[in-house]
Amino acid sequence: MKILAGNSNLPLARAIAGYLELPLTNADVRRFADDEVFVEIHENVRGEDVFVIQSTSAPANDNLMELLICIDALRRASAKRITAVLPYFGYARQDRKPGPRTPISAKLVANLITTAGVDRVLAVDLHAGQIQGFFDIPTDNLYAAPVMAADILSQGDAANLMVVSPDVGGVVRARALARRLNNAPLAIVDKRRDKPGVSEVMNIIGDVAGKDCILIDDIIDSGGTLVNAAQALIDGGAASVTAYLTHGVLSGKAVERVTNSALKELVITDTIQPTKAALASDKIRVLTIAPLIGEAIHRIAEESSVSSLFD
Ligand code: R5P
Repeated sequence: MKILAGNSNLPLARAIAGYLELPLTNADVRRFADDEVFVEIHENVRGEDVFVIQSTSAPANDNLMELLICIDALRRASAKRITAVLPYFGYARQDRKPGPRTPISAKLVANLITTAGVDRVLAVDLHAGQIQGFFDIPTDNLYAAPVMAADILSQGDAANLMVVSPDVGGVVRARALARRLNNAPLAIVDKRRDKPGVSEVMNIIGDVAGKDCILIDDIIDSGGTLVNAAQALIDGGAASVTAYLTHGVLSGKAVERVTNSALKELVITDTIQPTKAALASDKIRVLTIAPLIGEAIHRIAEESSVSSLFD
């Protein structure tokens, strides 16, 4: 088995390799003077089971291109099996046509990765589970929920917890976390915009008064969804609001927004390499997902069950 890393998240790739007690494959993934990506693998990979670790996070197009070119290099070097390990699958939110004459970019990116020559995909908390079906090859979707639940339970008494989904689409994810928190009760933030351009009305489904709320979502991007939901919960009488998000995209002024928000804490994972601003914020904490991905890679290599990681 070999682990090859693109440049999107080298600390995570090193931590996964550390879990597996393997060195990263000796390779250069670099740019020519004109910015084209070039990959050179400096060791034999013929007949090897190779896992390429690359999040297609910002700069999404550069990181995607690195991934495709790594896969091409491995295929042409006769690797036996190539698995694209995508801790964060960028473009996942473009999974349907939001209007006429718009693309389904998540499907296009899945086609590109498959056509480049991978045999399987390993992802974490895909924005929508059905994206697995965009790949016509085996695709494992890992859940960060066990890592989050262990962290929440290690913080102390769970008796007053309430798990909250920040939108109706996240209810299944929230319910799965609630189950791991001794079946904590569930609430949902129902976001309504009466007219375009008129501010949103946040209705809370569930009684959050006096509760320590745990907001869970897959992605924090601009931070708008999360910060507004946290404020609505505090306005609804919640005792505290802590958020657990798998993918800390944190674009634009998101870190500032979180720092100035009603949130007690935002906990993200390292599927995307955290920015300096995120690491400097005293409201943001990072949990590592490396052992989970490392164990899944180990099980894929050994042809044993991945789903039993979540029993
Ligand atoms: C939406 O369906 C996602 O689960 C996230 O809630 C959304 O992408 C977060 O975006 P933002 O932080 O920009 O509100």
